[in-house]
Amino acid sequence: MNLNLLDPELYQGDPHPTFAWLRQNEPVRWDARHGVWLITKYADVVYVSKNHELFCSGQGIRPNSNRKAGLITMDEPRHGQMRRLVNRGFTPRMVSRLEPHMREIVTECIDRVATLGACDFVPTLAVPLPMLVIAELLGVRTEDRERFRVWSDAIAAQDGQPDDSVPVAEAQRALAEYAAYLVDIIEDRRRNPRDDLISVLTHASDEGMLSADFTQMANDELLGLLMLLLVAGNETTRNSLSGGVLAFSQHPAEYDKLRVRPELLPAAIEEILRWSSPVINFRRTATRDTELRGQRIRAGDQVVIFYSSANRDEEVFADADQFRIDRNPNEHLAFGIGNHFCLGANLARLEMRVMFEELLHRLPDIRLAPGAVPAYAHSAVLRSIDSLPVVFTPERKAA
Ligand code: HEM
Repeated sequence: MNLNLLDPELYQGDPHPTFAWLRQNEPVRWDARHGVWLITKYADVVYVSKNHELFCSGQGIRPNSNRKAGLITMDEPRHGQMRRLVNRGFTPRMVSRLEPHMREIVTECIDRVATLGACDFVPTLAVPLPMLVIAELLGVRTEDRERFRVWSDAIAAQDGQPDDSVPVAEAQRALAEYAAYLVDIIEDRRRNPRDDLISVLTHASDEGMLSADFTQMANDELLGLLMLLLVAGNETTRNSLSGGVLAFSQHPAEYDKLRVRPELLPAAIEEILRWSSPVINFRRTATRDTELRGQRIRAGDQVVIFYSSANRDEEVFADADQFRIDRNPNEHLAFGIGNHFCLGANLARLEMRVMFEELLHRLPDIRLAPGAVPAYAHSAVLRSIDSLPVVFTPERKAA
């Protein structure tokens, strides 16, 4: 068995038998090849996440990378200060205000393919929704959407690529252009505040909430945060949408249940999140010597926590390998847990709800095309679906 959980090849197939073996036999495993600990049990993922003084984020959140990514790579107390501030842009009110816009985006995407009877779900439906929602949240002008899409794609394409590769160079260029664009928006909102996320953040920073020297904040922290939102909100939500269509295709009886009882949708969304776990893992660093299930972890050791394995832990979930839309309780860890719990969780849930409501309404028999297999991206970090051919009964053209 390939126990190398950081090998992208593992995720081209089904990693769950490997996770199950590790949970059973070696739940805290030293991976000598990468020099990191692999943590696969639910209780341990929770323990590591909640003990942020012992297992910190500030030295990097990806295995063997110290790259900083704003909020998500900050430790307390700085993290908490920043987080409280950003939360203002993600209150239930701010999030629910986006619903009509989400519905408009999904409706336009479905309109484009509804009469065809077939499409690739990823580029036509899963990619545009999260991207355009973040664009809206950030205040990207409608005429700049296409540039924004090109930047997002370039930035996403670098994931897992070597530092000296073409995708990384292109991503660096995209990030620089995106940063320059954001500085323009920041300057504009400083003069003409609106009721949007950047205005909230800009003015909080001007009140000196983030940094004594707000120029520093405008250039570094605020930008870092806005970049993080682009990356964190895009590919993750995209894969929860594709992952849902895939799960329903593989479990048609569960999908039928939902069609008969649409009030099960919120529970189904949680099960899709548990089942698909779009983020496979994040990393922490031990700040002092400690022990976990009898293994000695030393200060400075990297610890990689596997949400996707924790979400199938048989000790926590009855029939963990079954997809059940009415699962209850369902305390999955797809959004993490503890002080870095996903900032965009409610936004992502709302996007999923709007997408599946519209699919149930317009393309109710959508499913994986006969004989098709989903194409997974070459990544050991994100469970990313590149292509998902689907079929459905075509909508009749309006007369
Ligand atoms: C289904 C979709 C999503 C999944 C599965 C997901 C997953 C996660 C996970 C597991 C974490 C925890 C990181 C850690 O503990 O180190 C996290 C943090 C975060 N997520 Fe999400 N995410 C999703 C959508 C979004 C969206 C839509 C946004 C924003 C627009 C977002 C923004 C963030 C941010 C900013 C953090 C860092 C929070 C902090 O450090 O305090 N995420 N996400």
